[in-house]
Amino acid sequence: MGPGPTSVVGDLVLVVDFGAQYSQLIARRVREHKVYCELVPRSLPLSELVARRPKAVILSGGPASVYGSGAPRYDPALFGMGIPILGICYGMQLMAFLLGGQVEHGDRREYGRTTLEVTKADRPAGAVEAGDGSVLFSDVEKRTECWMSHGDLVLQAPPGFEVLARTANSPVAAFADPGRRLYGVQFHPEVVHTPQGRRILGNFLFKVAGCRPLWTPESMVEAGVREVREKVGDGRAIVALSGGVDSAVAAAMAHRALGERLTAVFVDHGLLRKDEPETVARTFGERLGGSFLAVDASGRFLRRLTGVRDPERKRKIVGEEFIRVFEEEARRQGLVGGFLVQGTTYPDVIESGGVAGVAAVIKSHHNVGGLPQRMTLGLVEPLRSLFKDEVRAAGLELGLPPDIVWRQPFPGPGLSIRIVGPVTRKKLAVLREADAVVTEEIERAGFGSAGGAAPGTAGAGADRLWQYFAVLPGVRSVGVMGDERTYAYTIVVRAVTSEDGMTADWARLPHDLLERIASRIVSTVPYVNRVAYDVTSKPPSTIEWE
Ligand code: XMP
Repeated sequence: MGPGPTSVVGDLVLVVDFGAQYSQLIARRVREHKVYCELVPRSLPLSELVARRPKAVILSGGPASVYGSGAPRYDPALFGMGIPILGICYGMQLMAFLLGGQVEHGDRREYGRTTLEVTKADRPAGAVEAGDGSVLFSDVEKRTECWMSHGDLVLQAPPGFEVLARTANSPVAAFADPGRRLYGVQFHPEVVHTPQGRRILGNFLFKVAGCRPLWTPESMVEAGVREVREKVGDGRAIVALSGGVDSAVAAAMAHRALGERLTAVFVDHGLLRKDEPETVARTFGERLGGSFLAVDASGRFLRRLTGVRDPERKRKIVGEEFIRVFEEEARRQGLVGGFLVQGTTYPDVIESGGVAGVAAVIKSHHNVGGLPQRMTLGLVEPLRSLFKDEVRAAGLELGLPPDIVWRQPFPGPGLSIRIVGPVTRKKLAVLREADAVVTEEIERAGFGSAGGAAPGTAGAGADRLWQYFAVLPGVRSVGVMGDERTYAYTIVVRAVTSEDGMTADWARLPHDLLERIASRIVSTVPYVNRVAYDVTSKPPSTIEWE
């Protein structure tokens, strides 16, 4: 299920997901306007949607045709509820189809950048009145670029609607029934290739729907702290600290909510990066004092992972073992019947298929899909509704040090999913050393996750490295060192730019930097004679190898 109404601060906008690859991006864009927004599945009954009292609803795009058999629909009564609605691409076509407009099934596909001609925004800026459809294009240039990706198109707007814009191929590229506050756009305002998209979305949110920009870092913290207080009551809780930004922010929120009633437990599962256990213990030991506890559980994790090849099995094992260790620790602390605070974020929830019907399961994240059925601890996830950049903003708001806030994400199953095939102590040691070289060289060159810009990348938010690390694919190849033949491991270097981890681009790192990394790894890390660079993006790959 979604994050739920208790997390909402200010106005709520719901995006009904018709399966577009951009649905989540719509939610992010709305939140960038400081309005809280959530994705809901199209299977959500109208009564439940209305019960959430959204200030506005956005119908997303999707791959279907309204004429296709089994094409996703929505209850047409939605359009008569007085809720402001914006249909995007398929969302617009569906709206036209259900309200008596004409949708052409078709051949006139448009894909890519197109010039949008705004036909009904000819009033001077500021002179538009609410109730006039052109408010959607208020302060938008008459001719502007937009991004199209559709097969079908709206040929004729439904009765009562006015046409606001066109393109060479789409006679109705935007329409509105301002009286009912129903709007539709054929293009994608949420992508960076629609330069005025941000303004158009803002016009819909503020000028049409009357939303207020109340979703700020303060309100994110307030929502998280309130959620912990409401769930835990006057009970006690334990929080899982991994050293990563998510769990650190979750812990700081829980600490603010519960004070001494929170115990932070750091489990060293033996799958951490070089020097990580020591760094985490030092940082959090100082901040949390007596509420901080470090447990070395590496032996039991490695035993359970022995000989395990399947990536999903590895993830499940690490997830289960984590919960067990926490449960044992909770019992030891007299916390039975208490709560477990976890730093699960919104993309984790969506990627694990947690928003029913929205996404297919690509990988089970250890802190979501890996949860065993029987848990003796109640679960509290104060970051469940936050995107990564929001988690970071909340972290800064909570006063966490920048080096923690700007850390690159590190997966819960740790190095186990960066070693292809069975995990062994030897492979872990090799990978740790190689990974330390990658991190050090990239940070020294100024490309670190704390704001360094990667060359050759463009687009909002895509200009810093999101992650950079080493992978051990477990293959060996022939090399030569001195006069000796070697038969040793290959290390793969992975560095990506990304806004939220949902999609990613391989980073165009300078060749001399890659050269430095490769030669340092081969000359200093034992059992390695070859280094390769991963030049695939997500999709079609994923960021982690498993
Ligand atoms: P993928 O490999 O799916 O990763 O492209 C997307 C982002 O999620 C991180 N990741 C995880 N984080 N538990 C986590 O907390 C996990 O099980 C997990 N698996 C992947 C990954 O590092 C990347 O940032």
